[in-house]
Amino acid sequence: MRINKYIAAAGVTSRRKADEMITEGKVKVNGVVLTNLGYHVEEGDVVEVNGIRIEPEEKMVYYLLNKPTGYVTSTYDKEGRPTVVELVPDNIRVFPVGRLDYNTSGLLILTNDGELSNKLMHPSHEFDKKYLARVSGIVSRAEAAKLAAGVDIGGFVTSPAEVELIRHDKNSTIAMITIHEGKNRQVRRMFKAIGHPVTELTRVGLGKLEIGKLAVGQCRKLGPAEVEYLKRV
Ligand code: URA
Repeated sequence: MRINKYIAAAGVTSRRKADEMITEGKVKVNGVVLTNLGYHVEEGDVVEVNGIRIEPEEKMVYYLLNKPTGYVTSTYDKEGRPTVVELVPDNIRVFPVGRLDYNTSGLLILTNDGELSNKLMHPSHEFDKKYLARVSGIVSRAEAAKLAAGVDIGGFVTSPAEVELIRHDKNSTIAMITIHEGKNRQVRRMFKAIGHPVTELTRVGLGKLEIGKLAVGQCRKLGPAEVEYLKRV
């Protein structure tokens, strides 16, 4: 198997980034820094990336998790907080695709497919992201229209979004919002910009994928059609 494919299959990074890492001298085969981008890995070769031995995973896995609040979207947390990878069954090394805040719940993809993950996180593949939000106060139709048209979230004006006001009580409003970008804490910053801070946030959709009835804290494997869909986008 060609070296860049081997590195991607180990879940380290994409093939393109693997080529860069080879050029930067970060890849060793049998203890020697590799210079040949076209090298084919042989049976018995020891491949190291940044000094760590890697082996291709037997198979790619793709999970959809309903992330609970109180979990960090990462494979490791310096502060020792629980991480989303702890919620994936089986002993397979996976990493999250994209990010949900510590206090956000909902749909998160986890995989060991470095190639797909890099592709999905590239800005040219921005999926629609659908969130259910509880915000403080009663959001008027005019405020919702402002949110949908685009608001300044601090040096950045958001592009048009879909906003649906679902219901409200005395002190809060439930709204569904679909955004097409993925700036850090974007939904929270958008509602804050119209004076209605988010108190609860759940991602319910990502492109065509939906959280459905999956319970919080549970994950399921993506079906072949769903994986195909992500690869095709
Ligand atoms: N927007 C946010 O503010 N937080 C998230 O976790 C995701 C989108």
